[in-house]
Order: sequence, then structure tokens, then C-alpha cells
Amino acid sequence: MSDQPAGGLLLVGCGKMGGALLGGWLDQGVAPASITIVEPADAALPANLHPDIIRCKSENELDDGSRPEIILFAVKPQAIDQVAPPYARFADAATYLSIAAGKTIDDFETLLGGGAAIIRVMPNTPAAVRRGISVAVANAAVGDAARTRAAELLSAVGEVAWIEDEGLMDAVTALSGSGPAYVFHLAECMAAAGTAAGLPEDLAVALARATVSGSGELMRQSSETAATLRRDVSSPGGTTEAALKVLMRGDAFEKLMSEAIQAATERSRELAQA
Ligand SMILES: NC(=O)c1ccc[n+]([C@@H]2O[C@H](COP(=O)([O-])OP(=O)(O)OC[C@H]3O[C@@H](n4cnc5c(N)ncnc54)[C@H](OP(=O)(O)O)[C@@H]3O)[C@@H](O)[C@H]2O)c1
Repeated sequence: MSDQPAGGLLLVGCGKMGGALLGGWLDQGVAPASITIVEPADAALPANLHPDIIRCKSENELDDGSRPEIILFAVKPQAIDQVAPPYARFADAATYLSIAAGKTIDDFETLLGGGAAIIRVMPNTPAAVRRGISVAVANAAVGDAARTRAAELLSAVGEVAWIEDEGLMDAVTALSGSGPAYVFHLAECMAAAGTAAGLPEDLAVALARATVSGSGELMRQSSETAATLRRDVSSPGGTTEAALKVLMRGDAFEKLMSEAIQAATERSRELAQA
């Protein structure tokens, strides 16, 4: 049996996203001894897991007297129905956070009991480098203090935004959850186009990578809008303008992106209903 101190954090699933959150909490100064991980796979754990962190292979190893303040589910959505119910016993004192895509607050109220305090969160993969954005929605059982604590913990891996209407979560998933893949695809397309224009492939790949990541960092540090930053690099009659005339012809790129995000939004809705 492992003792989870009162007020501690219980991380259920320490894969890619759970591991990113754990790293962020430790960087943020959360005491390792206040963290318990439930993770069956040894291979998923960070190589240098802090010795004060309690690690259990299953929920059965948790002490009956455990009183976690926060329980964060970071397992695959298809595992939630099986994984979550045993944690219902902590519902009187804990706030549950779930990052499982498509699993709704309603799903968790069914699994954990109607009175459980639940926050559904959609993070994204830049969390791995503390540059993510998490969008959160809470049920009525979550009080102000729990909201503040959840926001603190999520801010360890990037920005945090709250929504009040859970119905927006499908569009959030489509924009920021899946969005990193669109940006990576942009880098792929730029590299392929550079190669087609005669550049050696490795140089084209390096230029595309540095351009996408550098532009992202510039946008992060700037207070200007994306449109202003775009105009700033487009001199009249210049090369950038020539390219943008193609990309913006008939709003083709905007329409394609809109169609892509619509497809992801609909898929997110379908998955939530499955
Ligand atoms: N990665 C993303 O971009 C992203 C973005 C937004 C949201 N999310 C959400 O984040 C969640 C986790 O995704 P991920 O990419 O981090 O997945 P992952 O790397 O597969 O991590 C999930 C971990 O949970 C472990 N696990 C399985 N059963 C468990 C149990 N009963 N108790 C505790 N841990 C258990 C898995 O171990 P085994 O490998 O042994 O099964 C695995 O190590 C998903 O619900 C996903 O929807 C991910």
C-alpha cells in the first residue's frame, strides 16, 4: 500500500501528455512527495523519476486513506470507462481533471457519480516544451479554489483558457488540439516546395523547420496580430507578396483550413457520441 498525502496530486497515466504535465509540475516547484502516479507501464515513466514521487502500477496499490486533492486522468479515451470508476471513492474531496479527447463531463458524472467535481481539459502537444494551450470547462460542482488550483497546474505546460459551454470543446479540439499537426504539415509542404524549386532536400527541410518554429516564436513574443506580422514581411511588389497572392487567391487557403477544421470538429462530435 502506498500513502498518498492529503492534498496531493494523483496522475493516472504517465504517457506522453501525463509525462509532460508531470515535468511541468516539478519545474513549477510542486513537491515531488505530493505526487502519486498510477501507471502500469514501466517504459512510460521518465528515466529519472524523482524518488519522492509515489508510483503505483494500479489503483489497487493506493492506500485506503488517500485523500488526493486533484486526480488527473491522462489515459487514452477508450480506456476511461474501465479506468475511472474505482476513483469514484475519492469524489468527496477530490477534483477530477480529464484530458481524454471526446470524453464529456456527462460521461464522467456517470462514471464517478453525479456530485463529482469534474474539469474537462483539451491540451495540445507543445505542452511537452511548456508552450501548450489547455482549454478547460468545469461542471457546477467545481468551486473557485479548485478552478484556481487546476489552472495553476495546467499553466505548468503553457497557457490556459476557460470556456463555459462544453459544446465548444469539439471546435477547440479541432483548432488547438489537432492544430500542431497542421503546422507540421505546413513545414512539410514548404520543404517539399523548396526541394521542387531546386534546393537540396536537407537544406529545404532545415529552412522550413527554422522558418515555422522561428515564426511561431516571433508571433508568441509579439503583441501584433498574425495579420499585422504577415503584412510586415510583405513589401509591395516583393517576393512575399507574390507568394501570398497565390496562397490567398480566392481565399483558397482559408477555405481549405476552414474545411479541415470543420472535418475535425465533426469527427470530435462523432467520437464523443460513440
Ligand atoms: N498527445 C496529444 O496530442 C493529446 C492532446 C490532447 C489530449 N490528449 C489526451 O491525452 C490522453 C493521453 O494521451 P497520450 O498521448 O499521453 O497517451 P499515452 O502516451 O498512450 O499515455 C497513456 C498512458 O496511460 C497508461 N495507462 C493505461 N491504462 C492505465 C491505467 N489503468 N491506469 C493508469 N495508466 C494507464 C498507458 O499505459 P500502457 O501504454 O501500458 O497502456 C500509457 O502509458 C488521451 O486521452 C488523449 O486523448 C492527448
